[in-house]
Amino acid sequence: MAVIEVALAGRAYEVVIEEGLLGRFATAAAPFLKAYGEARKVPVVADTNTHRLYHAALEASLAASGLAADWFVVTPGEDAKTWSVLEQLTDWLLALGVTRKDHVIALGGGVVGDLVGFACAITKRGCGFVQVPTTLLAQVDSSVGGKTAINTAAGKNLIGAFHQPSLVLIDPLVLATLPEREMRAGFAEVLKYGLLGDAAFFGWLEANGAKVLAREPAALEQAIATSIAMKAQIVAEDERETLDRRALLNLGHTFGHALEAETGFSERLLHGEAVGLGMVLAARYSARRGEISAADAARATQAIAAAGLPASLSALGLACDGARLVEHMRHDKKAESTTLPFLLLRALGEAYVARDVDLADIAAFLDGELAG
Ligand code: GLY
Repeated sequence: MAVIEVALAGRAYEVVIEEGLLGRFATAAAPFLKAYGEARKVPVVADTNTHRLYHAALEASLAASGLAADWFVVTPGEDAKTWSVLEQLTDWLLALGVTRKDHVIALGGGVVGDLVGFACAITKRGCGFVQVPTTLLAQVDSSVGGKTAINTAAGKNLIGAFHQPSLVLIDPLVLATLPEREMRAGFAEVLKYGLLGDAAFFGWLEANGAKVLAREPAALEQAIATSIAMKAQIVAEDERETLDRRALLNLGHTFGHALEAETGFSERLLHGEAVGLGMVLAARYSARRGEISAADAARATQAIAAAGLPASLSALGLACDGARLVEHMRHDKKAESTTLPFLLLRALGEAYVARDVDLADIAAFLDGELAG
């Protein structure tokens, strides 16, 4: 078991990581369920998958504490992060009579967490919520830190709010049912923490990544806890991403976003896969600038490849050139300029925000990577 505090003044909260936590949900979340009882059920939001897999365990745990659940179930996938679903969810919360002191439970991956977090940020000008993330990606990244959002025609996550959860409950056992590809995609975000800020953790993941991917309990808990400890520290230092600190968590994301946009934000390339390949490109571009050695860039690439993640841009078979990928980056950042901030590496375990990157050079670099 690990308990990590996100130390935000006046809004500090705990992230609890423990096997079997879902079955003990009502006890673990008891301080946030006091408003509920015979007259009022606990509002729980899930998708059809997490509802099917976990509703019985959650309900049994609630029943043992004299509580019951009221469910709002969405379709799995990004389509749930829309104005229309947000409207239905907030109407549902209002119809239940949710107050600012209440807590809504988000039981699912990043989509459910982002949607519920944003709904709670705006319902009665802010009610509470508890995150119960069920994917590795949500456990190590999106459930912690208070970034909440929906998608619109203009892009992903452009409408949202910073709204911290009151508690995050992580049960590594729920990953037993996570599809292999999603497990690997989530592992890319775990590797990200090693690459951006902890060389020793990166080395540990090189040695133990296979155990984490095989969901061996001790390795899995260590990987999740180490990742969250770093995220908690960064969020406590720079909650709103104004100090070039939280931005480090976007390592691999600018390259990765361009790849996701080029592949239509589709199953062809999952977000975590795009981030993994984006980190390979960030490492190789850092080597091109002479900031890390070619051997270190190869080590980063090998760590991604060893996890069964796409690690070569040419192997992706994209029918585009580097300039087109740069256009996706510009569009994402709404920037007309010839430069953008990039997360690059000074060493394996030391990322920084580079503000002197010439986009023409990025396009030329990507042309080389696309050619293989
Ligand atoms: N996923 C990046 C962040 O939470 O800042």
